[in-house]
Amino acid sequence: MKNAIGMVGLGRMGANMARRLHQGGAQVVVYNRHVDKAEALARESGMAAAGTLEALVAALPSPRVLWLMLPAGDATQSHIDALLPLLSAGDVLVNGANAQHETSIAQAAHVEQAGVRYVDAGVSGGVWGLQEGYALMVGGSREAVAAVAPFLRILAPAPDQGWLHCGPVGSGHFVKMVHNGIEYGMMQALAEGFAILKGKEAFHLDLAQVAEMWRHGSVVRSWLLDLSADFLKKDQALDSIAPVVADSGEGLWTAQAALDLKIPAPVITLALQMRWASQGHADYTARMLAMMRNEFGGHAVQKEA
Ligand SMILES: NC(=O)c1ccc[n+]([C@@H]2O[C@H](COP(=O)([O-])OP(=O)(O)OC[C@H]3O[C@@H](n4cnc5c(N)ncnc54)[C@H](OP(=O)(O)O)[C@@H]3O)[C@@H](O)[C@H]2O)c1
Repeated sequence: MKNAIGMVGLGRMGANMARRLHQGGAQVVVYNRHVDKAEALARESGMAAAGTLEALVAALPSPRVLWLMLPAGDATQSHIDALLPLLSAGDVLVNGANAQHETSIAQAAHVEQAGVRYVDAGVSGGVWGLQEGYALMVGGSREAVAAVAPFLRILAPAPDQGWLHCGPVGSGHFVKMVHNGIEYGMMQALAEGFAILKGKEAFHLDLAQVAEMWRHGSVVRSWLLDLSADFLKKDQALDSIAPVVADSGEGLWTAQAALDLKIPAPVITLALQMRWASQGHADYTARMLAMMRNEFGGHAVQKEA
C-alpha cells in the first residue's frame, strides 16, 4: 500500500482530514475509540477502518505514518502510550492536537527514545478544511517531516502553499498557538466594531450590508469578516445567542508566552480576558464595584432578579 496513513480520532477535524487525504489519493486507514464512527466513514468513502490500534498498525506498511487528531492532554498521551509498543523504529507519529509546545517537546523526547519519529502539527481550517484545505504548521526533524510531507501536500490548500516546516519539534505547536492568539485579537476587534455600529441606533445601520461592503477592497477584509457577513445576513440581532464565549487554552498560552518573553501583547491578552468576562469571571468584580459606589456615594445597586 503506497502513500498510506493512519488517522486516529475522527471528530470534526480528523474525519474531514481523512476524507481530504482519501480524495487526494492517499490510502487512509481510520481509527476511532468508538468504532462506529470509523466504520461509518469507511462505508461512506471506501477507506479502510481498523477496530483496534493493533489492527491499525498492522494495516499500515513500514515506515508507518500515524496522525493523531485528538484532544490535547490525556487523550493524545494515552494513545501515544498505547501505540508506542506497537510501532517500529522509523515510524512517524504526528500529534495534530492544539497542544502546548513544551508538552510536545517532552512527548517527542519520549517517543524518539523508542526510535519512533515525532512531528508536532498545528492545524488550522476548522470545519471548512475539507473544502478549502488546511493551514499546517509542523515541527520536527527533516527526516520526520519529509515522511509526512506527501500528506501535508494533500491536506494543504495547494501542494506548495499553506504548510510550513517551521523548525524543530515544538515549533509547529508554538506557531499554531500564536496563530490562535492572533485569532482571538482579530475576532475581538471585529466583534467590538460591529457592537459599536449596532450601538449607534440613530443611523439604523444595516450591519450585514456594512460587512458585505467591507469584504471588497477594505483593509479589514478577511475570512472572519466573510463568515461574519454570512451569519449577519441571516440574523443581525443575535438575540438568541447567549453572550458567552469559550476559550480553549491557546489564547492563555499565548498570553503566558508573551509574559515569559516580555513581549507586550495587550490585544491578545485583553481578548482572552473578555472571553473570561463573558463566562462570568468578571461578575464578582462588578459586584464589588457596585457596592463600593453604593458605600461612598449612596449610588443605587441593582439586585439580581
Ligand atoms: N475544531 C477545530 O476547529 C479545530 C481546529 C484546529 C485544531 N483542532 C484540534 O484538533 C483536535 C481534535 O479536535 P476536534 O474539533 O476534531 O474534536 P472533536 O470533534 O471533539 O473530536 C474529538 C475526537 O477525539 C476523540 N476523543 C475525545 N476524547 C477522547 C479520549 N479521552 N480518548 C480517546 N478519544 C477521544 C473523539 O472520539 P469519540 O468520537 O469516540 O468521542 C473524537 O474522535 C483537538 O486537539 C483540537 O484542539 C480543532
